[in-house]
Amino acid sequence: MKKSIVAGNWKMYLTSSADASILTTTLRNNLSKITADVIIAPPAIWLSEVASILGKNGKVKVAAQNMFYEAEGAYTGEISPLMVKEMAEYIIIGHSERREFFGENNMDVNEKVIAALKAGLTPIICVGEKKKSVNAAQPIKELKEALMHIPKKRFKDVVVAYEPVWAIGTGESADPIYATKVITQLRQYASMETPILYGGSVNAQSVKGFAERPEIDGVLVGGASVKAKEFVKICQIWDEMKSLI
Ligand code: PGA
Repeated sequence: MKKSIVAGNWKMYLTSSADASILTTTLRNNLSKITADVIIAPPAIWLSEVASILGKNGKVKVAAQNMFYEAEGAYTGEISPLMVKEMAEYIIIGHSERREFFGENNMDVNEKVIAALKAGLTPIICVGEKKKSVNAAQPIKELKEALMHIPKKRFKDVVVAYEPVWAIGTGESADPIYATKVITQLRQYASMETPILYGGSVNAQSVKGFAERPEIDGVLVGGASVKAKEFVKICQIWDEMKSLI
C-alpha cells in the first residue's frame, strides 16, 4: 500500500535550539496516534537534537532539508548523505528555494537522489512550475531528470513533492483539482507506489481539499509546520479525511 505522508519543512525558521526542542517535544507528544507517516525537516544544525528527542522508533520521523552528493571530502560547509543517515530517514532534494537561491539544477538534483538512495535515505524530490499553468511540462522535466539512471524498480523508494513555486509561501495554495491534474501526469513518470505529495501554502484550512483527493498521497507543509498547534491540526485533519475516502 502507498504511504500517506504529512511532512513539515521548517526551512530556516526557529533560530534557537530551545525553540526547536519545544516544537519537537510538542509534536512528539501530540502526534503519536496519527496514522499517516509524519516527517519533520529541521535545519541541519538541529538534526541531532531533534532526532534524539523523537527517538529511533518514534512516530515522527526526521528529514534533512539538503545535503551534498559526495560521501565525504573537502567540501566546506556541506553535509554528506552518510552524516544525514545517522540522524534522519528522509532527505528533501531540489526544493525550489535551493534551485532559486543556491543555483541547484536538475543534474545536481539527480546526483543527490542517486546518492540518497545509495546511502539508504528516502529522497523527497521537489518539482514544480514557476508560473501558474495547467501545463505540467516543467515539473515533468524536473522529475524525469531527477530520476535519470535510476532503475524503475527503485521508484517506489522515492517520494515526490509537487510544489508549484507560485504557491509557496504566498498564502495562495493551488486548487486541489489543478494539483490533482498535475500529480496524475507526474504519476506516469514515477510508479504507482511512489507517494506524491502536494506542497505550497498548506495550512489547517486548505489541507482538507488536498486530503479529499485520492490521487494525492500527502502534503509538504512549510510555514505552517513551525506552528505546533497548526501542524498538529493539519495532521489530524489529514488523517480524518483519508479515513473517509
Ligand atoms: P509553504 O512552503 O507551506 O510555506 O508555502 C512549502 C514548502 O516550501 O515546502
